[in-house]
Amino acid sequence: MMGVLFFGFTVLLLLMGFFVGVSFILAVVGVLTFFVIGLVAVFLVAYIRELISKDLQAPVVGTVFNQLIHFNRLFDYQTSLARRYSTYRLVMLSHSEVYTADPVTVEYILKTKFSNYGRGQYHTGIMRDLFGDGIFAVDGEKWRHQRKLASYEFSTKVLRDFSSTVFRTNAAKLASEVFVASAANRIMDLQDLLMKSTLDSIFKVGFGVDLNTLSGSDEFSNRFMKAFDDSNAIVYWRYVDILWKIKRPLNVGWEAVLKQNIEVIDNFVYELIRCKREQMKNGKLDRGKEDLLSRFLVESEKDPENMTDKYLRDITLNFTIAGKDTSANTLTWFFYMLCRHPFVQEKIAQEVREATEAEKNVSTDEFANKLTEAALEKMHYLHAALTETLRLYPAVPVDGKISEEDDILPDGFKIKKGDGVNYMAYPMGRMTYIWGEDAEEFRPERWLDNGVFRAESPFKFTAFQVSNCSYPSSLP
Ligand code: HEM
Repeated sequence: MMGVLFFGFTVLLLLMGFFVGVSFILAVVGVLTFFVIGLVAVFLVAYIRELISKDLQAPVVGTVFNQLIHFNRLFDYQTSLARRYSTYRLVMLSHSEVYTADPVTVEYILKTKFSNYGRGQYHTGIMRDLFGDGIFAVDGEKWRHQRKLASYEFSTKVLRDFSSTVFRTNAAKLASEVFVASAANRIMDLQDLLMKSTLDSIFKVGFGVDLNTLSGSDEFSNRFMKAFDDSNAIVYWRYVDILWKIKRPLNVGWEAVLKQNIEVIDNFVYELIRCKREQMKNGKLDRGKEDLLSRFLVESEKDPENMTDKYLRDITLNFTIAGKDTSANTLTWFFYMLCRHPFVQEKIAQEVREATEAEKNVSTDEFANKLTEAALEKMHYLHAALTETLRLYPAVPVDGKISEEDDILPDGFKIKKGDGVNYMAYPMGRMTYIWGEDAEEFRPERWLDNGVFRAESPFKFTAFQVSNCSYPSSLP
């Protein structure tokens, strides 16, 4: 701690333009060296203490530094460990981080003992600046309230119909863009296009506004999108940057950039809320309005004390964050898999042609109109190929919880209060003890029973974290 303070003080002096002599620099280097040696020694003691502990705990495979060493291929590194141990742990200074690929343990933490495994202050502390009190950054009562609201809203026909129309319209715009690029034999960045198209759709569903980032014509939308993406990336970077808590109050480095980006986002969102509230006051807001923000605004009349502008900003923004990268990255992997498996591509095209009864050379808009719910329900092979993509490339590859009390996992491993318990969706998709010998193969057929899609246990296929992303009417 002293080392950190001293380091922080030195940086401060440098920042403030103080003259620093050679002897002072040498002293700083000495202190830093002392600090690093001290840190390694403390870690070593913690590591040895855990290794010789008589408690039945998950096998130790290293310290948190092992993850940093393998950071560039982190999920493959975790996969190689999961092949040896279905549950293992890494030693941190104050606690252990347990990682599991065992469906029985996954069921235990996400369902049986759900109440003991929340996000905890560690995760919520990292997310709070951007996510506020939204569903991703809260536990307990606030989480329950938003989940109930979401379960109700997402089950309403009006929101479902609205989202389908919005997604269909934007998919048609995207298809036209791809068609033009392909006709001109132009290379395109599909992930970038999918990110923009998904943001346009989710933003319209969430806030009722067309951003049109796909067309790139609106300077302000482009600025908003950049601020949104950069903030997301910086927040996740905090998991690696141990100095973020010092940089934040000093307003330096990425923390300063994050602050500016959040300002851009907030200015836009609060202005939207203000306009809609104004319309509501003047009786100009259509009460049958379909977007999420308008629906929450109407709801806020019943509970004005709790559903403040800040709360509405947090709820709606969290939905946008939740849906954008997950959907766009899944689709990117999906098209990548189709390029690598032309046979699967051909089967999907055939199924889509049959289900929509679309003529050859039909226009994109006409084709989009044929994508009715009834047509989609016939597309079992497409459903299987998308699910197979998520099995191998889950949008959330590893997800973590914190244990609120001492506990014992089903395999007998002891968990201490404050330990992290993470389930590993990406490694799980590659385990032969879960999916059989062909676990690493892309094979949509594994999801079909006589041509009909058959879901697997959500504790084996964890891409949607059991039911947390599907809004069941019964809450845990
Ligand atoms: C391929 C697409 C998607 C995948 C793979 C996915 C996956 C996930 C996962 C793993 C979680 C749990 C995260 C955690 O609590 O740590 C989650 C939560 C959530 N997702 Fe999704 N998601 C997808 C699309 C969407 C979309 C389109 C929306 C809505 C616009 C959405 C809304 C949410 C919300 C609100 C939560 C928080 C639920 C809660 O805490 O109870 N997701 N999602």
